[in-house]
Amino acid sequence: MPVNLTETAAWTALLSHVQNAREWNLRDLFAADPARGERLNAEGAGLYLDYSKNRVTDQTLTLLLDLARETGVETRRGAMFAGEKINVTESRAVLHTALRAPRGASVMVDGRNVVPDVHEVLDRMAAFADSVRGGTWRGHTGRPLKNIVNIGIGGSDLGPVMASEALKHYAQQGLTLRFVSNVDGTDLVEKTRDLDPAETLFIVSSKTFTTQETMANARSARAWLLAALGDDAAVARHFVAVSTNAGAVQTFGIDPANMFGFWDWVGGRYSLDSAIGLSLMLAVGPEGFRELLAGFHDMDEHFRTAPLERNLPVLLGMLGIWYNNFFDAQSHAVLPYDQYLAYFPAYLQQLDMESNGKHVTLEGQLVDYQTGPVIWGQPGTNGQHAFYQLIHQGTKLIPCDFIGFCQTLNPLPLEGGAPHHDLLMANVFAQTEALAFGKTLEQVLAEGVDAELAPHRVFEGNRPTNTLLADRLTPRTLGALIALYEHKVFVQGAVWNINSFDQWGVELGKVLASRIVPELGAAEPELEHDSSTNALIRRYRERR
Ligand code: F6P
Repeated sequence: MPVNLTETAAWTALLSHVQNAREWNLRDLFAADPARGERLNAEGAGLYLDYSKNRVTDQTLTLLLDLARETGVETRRGAMFAGEKINVTESRAVLHTALRAPRGASVMVDGRNVVPDVHEVLDRMAAFADSVRGGTWRGHTGRPLKNIVNIGIGGSDLGPVMASEALKHYAQQGLTLRFVSNVDGTDLVEKTRDLDPAETLFIVSSKTFTTQETMANARSARAWLLAALGDDAAVARHFVAVSTNAGAVQTFGIDPANMFGFWDWVGGRYSLDSAIGLSLMLAVGPEGFRELLAGFHDMDEHFRTAPLERNLPVLLGMLGIWYNNFFDAQSHAVLPYDQYLAYFPAYLQQLDMESNGKHVTLEGQLVDYQTGPVIWGQPGTNGQHAFYQLIHQGTKLIPCDFIGFCQTLNPLPLEGGAPHHDLLMANVFAQTEALAFGKTLEQVLAEGVDAELAPHRVFEGNRPTNTLLADRLTPRTLGALIALYEHKVFVQGAVWNINSFDQWGVELGKVLASRIVPELGAAEPELEHDSSTNALIRRYRERR
């Protein structure tokens, strides 16, 4: 029997609890419990979470975890790991966790253990990656392939883009890695402009192998290659595919022997650790990729087994629900203090917003509560000089996750000053301190600021943050970090009783676009849209 979220005992209790909580101030919470920072933290899979700078007491946490239990988060977690078809609108299992299960593990889907299949593909990917990296896989003219271009979009792009940037430090030198995603021809043209076709390998990555953007880019990439190499046979050496759709891959002209498969129980936005990660494996090598998978698995195990009170994805998920559903926070910022994680917020946007941007329950009823927040962010310290002003002194409540590493991969000592990494990390600690504790009017006046100016200098504080610290950005840590957010999204989706694994919301635009495409090129078909769309199309036609 589905539980109605707003009728649970914990929801009701939280509604009355929040009346008091709205009056709390982090300054008082810390004053009343000076050891709070040593208490309200948890650790797992190499990640340390400090959640003490949240507007919560022990009672809040108890109630939030009650809510998780009452809404069946644990049962649903068990169902996911067991391969039950929890993606009910597509009648599919949700088993990205099987992609990182160790060799020898068993995960059953429709009576079949899928782990050997997963490792068979991983082994083929590894053999291929080694042959390209080692120069034994050669292009049509006999030259080694030095440029890798992944063509894909959404989940077939964002994961490899984010992770290859994150793990650049571990990448093979001399390989150029590019990603083409946008159907805007500029993307392909600019990404291939300086590449030699004879040395370029295209990976066409698409779960369905029907996505308009990817298919258009793949066809144009093939034309670019053939224009230079002049022989259809070149496609076999310069194109490989990653897909679940072998038929469409073959129709496109890619030899199925050069296709790396995955399965319908892998959602696009959960597919980085499937063959969709091939471009990443080419960059960091099979060993680096396996380390990444090991990190994912570490977090899977933590999520599956740690008590809710110390379970990182559960804590992050439930704290998010606290602000989203009880403080009406509209967004959530993710602020990595590591240049290598530049694309992490963009990656999380698809992971979180495509998963939990839903307005009906699993049973198809309209929800009467808020679901997924807007996810956004940018690496620190750059964000500090752009949008932090609004977080500190604006009128909106924006809970933030700060992510930092104790060791840098690029130690730069500064003559006569602190090393770069200390400067960077000092900002993590300073920002979360400032957001929590702010600066009172009394403090401002005590500094001798004019009474007139003083209000402008006041920081209310009481802005909630989580801080995630890891020792070092390694493939393994990255895997754990990604899995942490995957499972956080899962926890929230389970509480909201929505399907975090479909994405019907992107369909309507796709269908309408394919209807409009022929209207743009043709001379005079009747336009039967609304007057605004008709007028826009007419203007475009006249001026294109
Ligand atoms: O944006 C919708 C979507 O279906 C995503 O979920 C998916 O990651 C992306 O399109 C790309 O799909 P495909 O891998 O099938 O090309």
